[in-house]
Amino acid sequence: MEESGKIKLELCFGTTCFVMGASKLQEIENLIPPQYKNKVEVKAHTCLDLCKNSKYMKAPFVKVDGEIISEATVEKVIRAIESKLNG
Ligand code: FES
Repeated sequence: MEESGKIKLELCFGTTCFVMGASKLQEIENLIPPQYKNKVEVKAHTCLDLCKNSKYMKAPFVKVDGEIISEATVEKVIRAIESKLNG
């Protein structure tokens, strides 16, 4: 967790991730449950450098506090945030 006590949510909107579904993640900031909202810091990237070297994982990629989520969906990302916040 960040020093601020916030979870760092890194979204990738690079070409590979975008065409693989990251476009659906654009709304995620509005979909994070209100009780978690002020505990999450969202950052957008143009490439997390995961599309190039991951042989086994698929885009779109998201990082939650450094943990890589592949084939990310809104549900997966919110679940990851929840589990980080609830320890
Ligand atoms: S475009 Fe998303 S990791 Fe490269």
